Amino acid sequence: MDRSERLNYLRKETDLSESDIDTITDPTAAFSFDNANQMIENAIGIFSLPLGIATKFVINGKEYLIPMVIEEPSVIAAASNAAKIASQRGGFTATNVDEALMIGQVQLVSIPPLLAGSTIKKILDHKSELLSLANSNSRSVIARDLQIKEIEDKSQNMMGKMLIVELLVDTKDAMGANAINTMCETISPRLEVLTGGNVVVRILSNYSTGRLVRCKAIFARDELGGEVIVDRILYAYAFAFSDPYRAVTHNKGIMNGIDAVALATGQDFRAIEAAAHAYAARDGTYRSMTRWYKTNDGDLAGELELPLAVGTVGGVVSVHPMTKLAIKILGVKTAKELAAVLAAVGLAQNFAAMKALVSEGIQAGHMRLHARNIAVLAGARGNLIKLVAQMIADEKNVNIHRAKEIIALMTEKNLNNNTYNNNK
Ligand code: MEV
Repeated sequence: MDRSERLNYLRKETDLSESDIDTITDPTAAFSFDNANQMIENAIGIFSLPLGIATKFVINGKEYLIPMVIEEPSVIAAASNAAKIASQRGGFTATNVDEALMIGQVQLVSIPPLLAGSTIKKILDHKSELLSLANSNSRSVIARDLQIKEIEDKSQNMMGKMLIVELLVDTKDAMGANAINTMCETISPRLEVLTGGNVVVRILSNYSTGRLVRCKAIFARDELGGEVIVDRILYAYAFAFSDPYRAVTHNKGIMNGIDAVALATGQDFRAIEAAAHAYAARDGTYRSMTRWYKTNDGDLAGELELPLAVGTVGGVVSVHPMTKLAIKILGVKTAKELAAVLAAVGLAQNFAAMKALVSEGIQAGHMRLHARNIAVLAGARGNLIKLVAQMIADEKNVNIHRAKEIIALMTEKNLNNNTYNNNK
C-alpha cells in the first residue's frame, strides 16, 4: 500500500475521524511549538520520528493494528511477519499476573537509638492514618497498603541502618508516577514525627514487579522451515540465556518492539527499560527476557514475562494528540490491555530476530529495506526506487555511490529510448 491506501485502511478498520487523519498527516498543527514549550524547559523545536503500523497481531483473540514509533528499518516488518506466523496457532495469549500495584519508597535515617527497636511497630500502629494521609490528595490512584523493610548500607560509606517505608499503590489505568511521588512526600513529615528520624529520599520505585505481564505464543514448525530452524532457535536462546554479552543484544531486540509501541502511546519508556532489564537479572545474572522451548508437536513456543508500568490515562497520554491517536488506533481500553500488547510485540520481535539470525542472517533483510532509503537518497523516484533498491541489494552493494551510478545508467537508457521513440 502507498500512504493514502494505508490511511484509507485505517479509516476503514479503526474509529479514526477525518480530523484524526488530518492530525496524522500534519502533526505539527495539533502539537505546535507552544505545546512543546509548555512541556519541557529551554525548548527550541519539535523532533520527528517515523510512525508506522504493525499488522496481523492477534492478542487474546482480538485483532490489533499496532502503532510503532521507531527509526530502525525492519522492526515493523519483522513484528508483523512474526505476528502472522503466530496467528496460525491462535496468536498471543497475554495475562496480567498482578493487579497494577506500584511501590512508593520513603527512606528514613538517623532514627534515635531509644526509638529504634519500637519504630517499626509504631509506624505499623499508624498504618491506617498514614494510608488516609497518602490518599488525601488522590482520587483514582489509591494507596492500599504499607510495608516496612530495614536495610543496611552496603556501600563503602557505611551509612548504617535505615528504614524504608513502602506504600503499595493501586495505579489502575495510570502509570502512576506523579501520584505516588506526591503520596510519598505527603506522608514523610508525619513519618519523621512518628520516628524521630530524618526522611531522605521519597519517590516511586520503577522496579514495577507488581505489574508483571506474561505473554505466550506458538510458532508452527512448518512456518519456520522445519525442525532444523526450531533447533537452531533453541541454540540461539541457549546462548542468550547463558551469556550476558549475548543476552543484552537479544533483549535489545525485544525492547525494539516494546519501546516503539511505548513511544507511540506516550509511555515513560525509560521506566519500562529500567524495570525490564532489572527483571532480566532477577536471579543474579543478566539473562534472556524470553524463554523458548519445543512443544510436544515439535512447534516452537515462546514466553515473555516482564514488569510493565504503563498507562492509558494521565501524563503525556492525555495531552499529546499523537499518543491519543495511537491509543485510539490500538483500541485498548485499559492499561492492562496496553501492557499485553507491549509484551506481545516484544515477543514477536524476539522471534523475528532469532529466526533471521539463525537462517539468512540479520543483514539481508535489513539491507533490502535499507537499500530503499539509499535509492531515495541517491535521487531515485517513483518506480525507480524499487528497481534501484533491488539491484543494489542483489549486488550486495548497498551504497549511495552505486545507487547513483545505476540511476544515471537507467535515466540515460530511458532518454535514449525516448529519443529513439520520438525520432521514429
Ligand atoms: C537489532 O536492532 C536487534 C537484534 O540485534 C536483536 C538480536 O540480536 O536478537 C537483531
